Amino acid sequence: MFRTHTCGELRLSDVNQVVTLSGWVQRSRKMGGMTFVDLRDRYGITQLVFNEASDAALCEQANRLGREFVIQVSGTVGERFSKNANLPTGEVELIARSLRVLNGALTPPFTIEDATDGGDDIRMKYRYLDLRRPAVRKNLELRHKLTIEVRRYLDEQGFIEVETPVLVGSTPEGARDFVVPSRMNPGQFYALPQSPQTLKQLLMVSGFDRYFQIAKCFRDEDLRADRQPEFTQIDCEMSFVEQDDIIDLFEGMTKYLFRRVRGVELTEPFVRMAWADAMKYYGSDKPDLRFDMRFVELMHLLKGYGFSVFDQAAYIGGICARGAAHYTRKQLDALTDYVKRPQIGAKGLVYARVEADGTVRSSVDKFYTPEVLQQVGKAFDAQPGDLLLILSGEDAMKTRKQLSELRLEMGNRLGLRDKNRFVCLWVIDFPMFEWSEQEGRLMAMHHPFTHPKDEDIELLDTDPAAVRADAYDMVINGVEVGGGSIRIHDPQLQAKMFHILGFTPERAEQQFGFLMNAFKYGAPPHGGLAYGLDRWVSLFAGLDSIRDCIAFPKNNSGRDVMLDAPSVLEEAQLKELNLEVKL
Ligand code: AMO
Repeated sequence: MFRTHTCGELRLSDVNQVVTLSGWVQRSRKMGGMTFVDLRDRYGITQLVFNEASDAALCEQANRLGREFVIQVSGTVGERFSKNANLPTGEVELIARSLRVLNGALTPPFTIEDATDGGDDIRMKYRYLDLRRPAVRKNLELRHKLTIEVRRYLDEQGFIEVETPVLVGSTPEGARDFVVPSRMNPGQFYALPQSPQTLKQLLMVSGFDRYFQIAKCFRDEDLRADRQPEFTQIDCEMSFVEQDDIIDLFEGMTKYLFRRVRGVELTEPFVRMAWADAMKYYGSDKPDLRFDMRFVELMHLLKGYGFSVFDQAAYIGGICARGAAHYTRKQLDALTDYVKRPQIGAKGLVYARVEADGTVRSSVDKFYTPEVLQQVGKAFDAQPGDLLLILSGEDAMKTRKQLSELRLEMGNRLGLRDKNRFVCLWVIDFPMFEWSEQEGRLMAMHHPFTHPKDEDIELLDTDPAAVRADAYDMVINGVEVGGGSIRIHDPQLQAKMFHILGFTPERAEQQFGFLMNAFKYGAPPHGGLAYGLDRWVSLFAGLDSIRDCIAFPKNNSGRDVMLDAPSVLEEAQLKELNLEVKL
């Protein structure tokens, strides 16, 4: 037995007990004839004391310990003379009687503590050391707790967890696939699943009316703070349900998880917002509703006064930053630079202040009479002290997205995005299709198996771009944590959908024949959704990137720098796979 207790559990009530601890040396310091060592394990830190006067040899042994040595120590628990209020074990110490070095350690390349001196790259290379830091470890503990609670909730609701394969066939819609060559089938490739979408639908055909899986998904797409090439979904599907049934059940799960894992009671029903409204008022399909700052459209007020930027615009809109009229020229210039960044792409920013007497003064005063500016102020219901920020552009959707970025930035600057407040909403009634400039055709906004809204089905023949889908996303604090839809279960409607998406019947058969055939054998009405587990954990933990809640993540170039993957294959292996590499 290497230990009787962990380093996190000793308290005053344990004083005079003889115990054995094992762990890593966090640090040691010599003070006069005493040597103090902080011993760390997964559960916490306990101070060890070695006294030269009572055992000089043991103390000498302790003096030779280096950082991160793995040791086993036995001794008596004593009350600490100078207590450490920052540690749960801070009232006690272990007066060492014996010490065994279980393993030495090289000096770590960065300090193993929350405020570490290690930069991102070095911590990723030595991720196993990074994971020793309590802040990182806590994220994995939270992740564990979340998945346990998800399983508990869904089990109680009658869901069954079914594993689906990771070697599947490539599908054309969605992101790029990661592919795996097949040795036994020369020249052929598996793809890794972007999600278990079609498989869970097949499980519905098989009669598993409530399925879930904590599933690994793989997408070869450009990475961002909230995207990894491999990530985890809480993937769910149900039969004999309509949109409201799914929304109600998963709203229940969300509230349950908030209560059990985050200690937050969400009592109100979640807002349900049509996609068109989300775009109109927030310029985003995932609005952060911790603060209002809705868009106000100003085309009718500001066009036609000789200000060419506005006169040529397809959209003019703004937001009202309450109480920000004191913004200095420098702050406003910084905001202008912000919206002009290439990632955002606005050409400029017009602003107006509401003065103490209610007068509205703008950066474009020479084009507008005070009366017009007054009307603008009124449109925002602006009060003295408010700042109005206005963007315009020749592409309405692009301009809305730019204004959305500005809204979020102002939310940050005004401290309106508190990480400990949570506002959840459902965005519903998504468009069925979106136009792809690149492909020159309509693409499924969600995926090709999504059911159109019943009342829009007839538009499929006449105006497909206007068709809305029975699709829904769950958004928390501006993060899309999940999404799903009611599926098509009628093979004819599915065939029509593929046709609109530009598939020939032959190609649809080749790619999705397995699903359409299955639907001919009695497919129940069904629907579901998938949550992004990584995003959810980072939201609960208040992280800026999902990387921090993944044990072994990839960096922004999709590399695992610790494993040095991806890497080249040896010639023999390539040959066995019938592959030739040409760069
Ligand atoms: P979707 O593609 O919207 O839907 O994915 C569902 C949720 O998965 C998370 N997510 C990601 N998380 C981290 N890194 C990524 N690269 C990444 N991509 C997506 C998001 C997202 O909301 N099969 C459908 C679901 C369904 O219809 O049931 C699907 O995969 O939180």
